[in-house]
Amino acid sequence: MANAVAERAARGLDDELRRELKRYLPRYENARAAVLPALHLVHEKLGYVSPKAIEQIAELLGLSPGEVHDTMSFYQFFHTPADPLGEHRVFVCRSIACSLRGGENLLEYLCRQLGIRPGQTTPDGKVTVEFAECLGACDFAPSMLIDGVLHKDMTKEKIDDLIRSWAVRGSQ
Ligand code: FES
Repeated sequence: MANAVAERAARGLDDELRRELKRYLPRYENARAAVLPALHLVHEKLGYVSPKAIEQIAELLGLSPGEVHDTMSFYQFFHTPADPLGEHRVFVCRSIACSLRGGENLLEYLCRQLGIRPGQTTPDGKVTVEFAECLGACDFAPSMLIDGVLHKDMTKEKIDDLIRSWAVRGSQ
């Protein structure tokens, strides 16, 4: 486990990711504006942002690693080598409309079925469950965002179908 974390922490940008980042940079008016998109790109590719990647992003943008790290830690969106993102990322809306229509019960149900708590990833690395604020789909509450796709009018049955399709090992 410690070895796996150390391995992930040492993993940085490969040539392809570096090329992609360089292609992105001219779109932003200054280096600071490019930090967040650069972090997103790395996070999407690796499932976390490593200290090595932070150093490399800083070097590419001419900033200090501390500046890049500050931006990263300000948002609670990014996972770290000790807590990498699962294969599937589930955001459960906990804002008012979804909450009133059973969103919190569904969150509890989903987590219980997966054997994890909100914010955690299943031990097999398949699914990460997180909170989200309003997903902009209040008319279809309760809503969830799963792997970037909005799922409306969620029910326990729909959750059961999803869990089956993910084939999570050890889920109930
Ligand atoms: S409150 Fe959940 S989508 Fe708006």
